[in-house]
Amino acid sequence: PAHARREADGAVSVAGVPVTALAAEFGTPLLVIDEEDFRARCRGMREAFGADAAVHYASKAFLSMEIARWVRDEGLSLDVCSGGELAVALRAGFPAERIALHGNNKSVAELDFAVESGIGHVVVDSLSEIARLDAVAAERNTVQEVLIRLTPGVEAHTHEFISTAHEDQKFGFSLAATAGREASGAGSDSPAMQAVTAVFAADNLRLVGLHSHIGSQIFDVNGFEIAARRVLELLRDVVARFGAEKTAQLSTIDLGGGLGISYTAHDDPPPVTDLAAKLRHIVEAESAALGLATPHLAVEPGRAIAGPPGITLYEVGTIKDVAVDAASASDAAAAQGFRRYVSVDGGMSDNIRTALYGAEYTAVVASRDPQGAPVLSRIVGKHCETGDIVVRDTDTPGDLAEGDLLAVAATGAYCYSMSSRYNMQPRPAVVAVKDGAARLILRRETVDDLVSLEVL
Ligand code: LLP
Repeated sequence: PAHARREADGAVSVAGVPVTALAAEFGTPLLVIDEEDFRARCRGMREAFGADAAVHYASKAFLSMEIARWVRDEGLSLDVCSGGELAVALRAGFPAERIALHGNNKSVAELDFAVESGIGHVVVDSLSEIARLDAVAAERNTVQEVLIRLTPGVEAHTHEFISTAHEDQKFGFSLAATAGREASGAGSDSPAMQAVTAVFAADNLRLVGLHSHIGSQIFDVNGFEIAARRVLELLRDVVARFGAEKTAQLSTIDLGGGLGISYTAHDDPPPVTDLAAKLRHIVEAESAALGLATPHLAVEPGRAIAGPPGITLYEVGTIKDVAVDAASASDAAAAQGFRRYVSVDGGMSDNIRTALYGAEYTAVVASRDPQGAPVLSRIVGKHCETGDIVVRDTDTPGDLAEGDLLAVAATGAYCYSMSSRYNMQPRPAVVAVKDGAARLILRRETVDDLVSLEVL
């Protein structure tokens, strides 16, 4: 987090609050969010993309009612991808007209909830959804604004499970004329053009934009540029086919989320201002070259806002040195002759990203100034599963001991939101720190919570 420091006594503080005090008051594992850092990232996005652009915080990264209020108060819009996220945002008082609904399989109930709530727009993902949403809007006697989710065929260089814009995947409408078997009798139109045609033909839908999301944790601006160009080419074709009047309100190009953040010292993400300047430039230049009015730019960052402000505090438990046979292990632990397994009091239930994606994190001793020669170690959780790893390979100080606090950085995004109660582990508490004060925003789960769904 921006406001984390190692104080003179050796302990880390966040926004002026020592982590030792946080652990003593709220227990561990504990997710600590630097509120001012989170808010500053919201503002930084708005400034970078300009007053004319819409910045939607992707709530899947991390949503609670308190977080929704920060996002609302900083003037951002919100991207939700389920009825649950929508309900939490609305209960927090997030203005419905600033919310967009995503999803490849929205239920009729979710669509109806969205339309009834008066949300800003729905990002439609299939021809059958276009028909369903049109019917829902007709039933409610209203016209719903929509964006069309496109698959621009860009492969962002990121982990396979989290890249979403190559053609063979479940999201969106392909721009390629030969792709797709969903509709017949539409000549050689691409699935994307078929979707545009379907929305224009729907009495209770209004097409206001085109959407693309190429993946997550992206460092290379190139992918966004290619996607933007392809989306604008579709826009040009649509304007040519349907005419200026019919397409007058088709004025938004939403390039989704995906901005990468730094998890370890090897990561070097481009500054948001650079990315924003490049995207603004390409949208302006390309639309001018295609003879189009400059569309409004929209983006949906999640990780880049919520990730860095979060750190997870764990208490160190069992420390075990396990012999590593140089003949069978190829990594540095073999040279060391052993691997040090440092167990903490959470794990894959509060951060599944290492197990699921091979994500990399750093861990530091946060409760005191550590001493002693570094020992190559593996930070593991307390779950009954071998793959329950928090940090695969990291040095820990030689004097690491039970009871020390470890802090794992950049855990604000996709950790709590992907958490589980595996092994009946209660979810951790979440605390916001700001100006030297800590405020609980999500309490720790209890055994009562664990049994709260039981019907006996
Ligand atoms: N917009 C859409 C349509 C998305 O699908 C996503 C993320 C975002 C925005 C936000 O992307 P971000 O700015 O956070 O990269 N669980 C994975 C990440 C999955 C991202 C899914 N979609 C992880 O932990 O890395």
